Amino acid sequence: MGIGGSDMYRQQILDHYKNPRNFGEIEDATFTHVGENPMCGDTIEMDVVLDDDEEVIERVAFRGDGCAISQASASMLSEQLTGMPVEDLEEMDRDDVIDMLGVDISPMRVKCAVLAEKVAQDGAEIYFGEKNVDKTTTEDDEE
Ligand code: FES
Repeated sequence: MGIGGSDMYRQQILDHYKNPRNFGEIEDATFTHVGENPMCGDTIEMDVVLDDDEEVIERVAFRGDGCAISQASASMLSEQLTGMPVEDLEEMDRDDVIDMLGVDISPMRVKCAVLAEKVAQDGAEIYFGEKNVDKTTTEDDEE
């Protein structure tokens, strides 16, 4: 699979890939966002349900295709996001995702690893951005 790291983490990634958690759809999601890995064209779509105060993530579902890393990352992230304050999602970065995966990710695969995290973050940014018209955000594709 082209990833290094300990067997335990590799097993965990394979397990999430084969049995993705929270795979599917949530009909009455607070927001839904889809994103693409520009390197390969694979997409992940994510539904997020926030609590009534819109401060905490209550439920997450995702669907899409992609390599083992992207799917396992989406599955693991969906578990991590459940119960997480939206603020914490906004602060996540690629290192948090790589730590979550627990394996070495080659530069070629970083976009696979962070795809789901970008989708969740961009979805939140767009959702809150549209609610607060003065909080304008510019799309820059950070590496
Ligand atoms: Fe497409 Fe990894 S190769 S998401």
